[in-house]
This record gives sequence, structure tokens and C-alpha cells, in this order.
Amino acid sequence: ITVSQEMVAELTSPPHVPTPIGRRKAKKLIVNMEILEQEGELTSGVRYNYWTFGGSVPGSFIRARVGDEIEFTLSNHPDNKLPHNIDLHAVTGPGGGAESSFVAPGHEKTFSFKTLNPGLFVYHCATAPVGMHIANGMYGLILVEPEGGLEPVDKEYYVMQGDFYTKGKNGERGLQPFDMQKAVDENADYVVFNGSVDGLTGDNAITAKVGETVRLFVGNGGPNLVSSFHVIGEIFDKVYVEGGDLINENIQTTLIPAGGAAIVEFRVDVPGSLVLVDHSIFRAFNKGALGILNVEGEEDKKIYSGEIREGIYLPEGPGIQNMPTTDEVVESEIPAKSFEEQMKFGKQIYMQNCFACHQSEGQGIPNAFPPLANSDYLNADVDRAISAVVNGLSGEITVNGEKYNSVMTRQMISSEEVANVLTYVYNSWGNSKKVVTKEMVDKVKG
Ligand code: HEM
Ligand code: CU
Repeated sequence: ITVSQEMVAELTSPPHVPTPIGRRKAKKLIVNMEILEQEGELTSGVRYNYWTFGGSVPGSFIRARVGDEIEFTLSNHPDNKLPHNIDLHAVTGPGGGAESSFVAPGHEKTFSFKTLNPGLFVYHCATAPVGMHIANGMYGLILVEPEGGLEPVDKEYYVMQGDFYTKGKNGERGLQPFDMQKAVDENADYVVFNGSVDGLTGDNAITAKVGETVRLFVGNGGPNLVSSFHVIGEIFDKVYVEGGDLINENIQTTLIPAGGAAIVEFRVDVPGSLVLVDHSIFRAFNKGALGILNVEGEEDKKIYSGEIREGIYLPEGPGIQNMPTTDEVVESEIPAKSFEEQMKFGKQIYMQNCFACHQSEGQGIPNAFPPLANSDYLNADVDRAISAVVNGLSGEITVNGEKYNSVMTRQMISSEEVANVLTYVYNSWGNSKKVVTKEMVDKVKG
């Protein structure tokens, strides 16, 4: 196949998918993907710091055809705190693109690949700690259509499952940090479709009309759990098993591995609310893995004569599919008037800027982020700690006998805020109770 023309890929946020490729020839396809770290709502009253491809969980849907040459540019927004990359399972090559796309905040990276195999593929971030980046929402789907395209259907939607691990238990309100230990134990607090408990219900429910054929592109980002994907009140006419060429017919529940996908198709014959679930059923009714497909149209008493109790499974309240943008971090120019205020302001800054890596109790993450709790490195030299925050820190260091050799980017916060956050750190978790002032920070800045 000769690749003659160039086009910019249409990217969509869930539950939408881009226009089918139809009969178009293979092309050079330009994909521009932006990474955004954004606070959003996991469920009513529960906030979460999502890391996203394109501002949504799952990330933007990419639609290509076999033989396309994809020129992929990954941009890491300057307001982000962490480096990221992308591993697309549609890539034939080392790391699925991960090494070539590793990108720091405020930078972008370009690489290209050719789509050799048709299918529905997962992509995800592969930056260490990999599980944490995936758990925070860094996954999505890329569809590679065969020559001539998939057969046209009436409705197509994008649905992706993911498991979430929060410090507080399910339903505990407020901004919930990621819990590494629960993730390692595969003990999910939330299992959801499209990034939140309300990601596919209420205003986010998907729709179809009686007589239409619906195609769902279903992915599973994991990071841990395998999905037993099922639609209550339907039978899949076709399942493209694991997103490949093999078509199975007349299926009730299809397995979708973590880091895998499936295409399911079914004609809707009667009106009502069909319920998408992970049939590991406590996940559906107790952890959020539940979505709604509202079907409108004429009843057909021959196919289904019973009472259709519409809305019985509908959870209350509107949800989100796009994460709302975080408010700008307001520079607190009002100086803290007391030690108590320094601690209060400092904790807020810590939760916004530091906890993603150093964790909520300053315990860090083994082999990745050093602890700030009881840290000999921290307590030995206050100017060095100030410098780590205002200038960043890289190269090998030893903290409490463990070696770290990584990069901490410089934190974009005011001198006042640096003083408050370090005062909070020094007066928490068994540290040496130093008080850091704005003057001390300004002296290190020079
Ligand atoms: C190291 C503080 C944000 C990643 C350090 C150290 C301090 C510190 C004092 C020295 C080692 C120690 O005492 O354990 C802070 C504060 C932050 C912050 C107060 C927020 C204002 C972050 C963020 C990241 C990060 C967001 C992740 C992108 C690291 C890494 C090191 C480190 C990787 C070790 C660097 C090396 O190996 O040379 N941090 N940090 N820090 N921090 Fe942070
Ligand atoms: Cu990442």
C-alpha cells in the first residue's frame, strides 16, 4: 500500500467515536494527543486527581485503518506535575512507543508507526510506577479498521472499564489520594465505566432506537481487574473476541482482560433501559461498574410482554465524562499569620503538589519516590530541601538507607508556599519540627 496523503486524526472523548474510515486509502495520519492532569469527581462528593490522555477517562478514541502511517505527537501540559509516555498495543516496536514518547511537563515528543494489524487495541501510560499511572486514568482505545472498514451500523459507542484505589473507602468524601497498597493488593474501591461512577448513567447514558444495531467498543484499562462484560436484557449478536478478527455469535457475557478489548454488536428489539455491567456483580452494584443504554421506540409484546420497569437501576444525579479543568492554583499572597496557619496552608499545598509522588502520609513509593516521613535526607539540611522544591532535584540520593536515582521537577509555587509546605512536612510524620520562612526560601533562591 502506498501512503499518499496526510490527514489529521479526529479524536473523540467517551462515549463518542470518530467517523468510520469507510473506503479511504491508507494515509499518513497525524495524531496530536495532550496529557492533562485534572481534578474530577469519581462519584458524588468524592474528588480524584485524574491523569488523562486528552482530558477524559478513558482517553481520546483514535480511529485508523490498517496500513496507515501514524505520526504521533504526545504533549505533556506545562501545568502537569509528572513525566508520562504512551504504549499503544497497536504498535509493532519496542515498548509500543513508550521509550520514544517519554515526555516531561511542558514538552512534546513525536514518533511514528505503521498499523500492521487490524483490531481494537488499548493504549496506556507506561511510566513508572506503571500501575499508578494506569490506575489514575491513563488508558484509552485505538481502533485499526480493516481495509474497506467495519460494516456500517446505526450506533457506535466507546466504553472502557477501570478500577480505582482510594485512601478512603468507597464513598468517603473529599479529595482522595491514590492508595498504592490497595492497588498492589488488587482491592479496588471503585470499578467504573468511563472514568467515574456516573460515567455512563444519568445524563451520560447512551441511547438507541428500537430496530437499530448498536456497536460498543469496549476496553478494559485495569490496572488489575478482568471484566465479565454483560448487558442486562440483551444478547450480543456478535462479539469480536478480544478485539481481533474472530467473531463469536450469540454471547451473554464476554471476558475482557486488563489491557484488552472487545467489540460487541447487537440489534435492540424492544424499548427500555439496558444495563451494562461487569457481571462480577458486586462491582456493578457496589463499586460503580454499571452503565445505561436507553432504548426508545415501539414495544413488541411478542418479544417481551412483561412489565418494563424503566429507570429502576438509574442512580441519581448527573455525572461527568470530561473531567472539569482544575482551577488555577491561586498564589497565596496573604502570608500565614501563625504557625497553625502555616501548617494549614502547607497541607493544602502538599495535597495539591506533592502527594501524587510522596503520598498522603509522606511515605513515598518504594523504588520510585523517596519518603518525606522520618527522612534523614530532609532533616539533615534545610537549604537542600528548599532547593529540591524550588530548583528540582536529580541524580542519586540516599534516603533512610535506600537509593533513589530519579528526577523531581521544580515545583511552580511561590516562596511563601514553599515555606508553608516545608513547615508542614518538617512538622509531620516524625520529622525534626523546623519552621521554614519565606526569607529562608528567598535566600536559597538567591
Ligand atoms: C526528592 C520534597 C514534589 C518526586 C525530594 C526531597 C524532598 C522533596 C525534600 C529530598 C529527598 C527526601 O527528603 O526524601 C518535595 C515537596 C514537594 C515535592 C515539598 C511538593 C511541593 C514532588 C513531586 C514529585 C517528586 C510532584 C514527582 C514528580 C521526587 C523524586 C525525588 C524527590 C523522584 C528524588 C530525586 C532524586 O532521585 O534525585 N522531594 N517534593 N516530588 N522528589 Fe519531591
Ligand atoms: Cu503517566
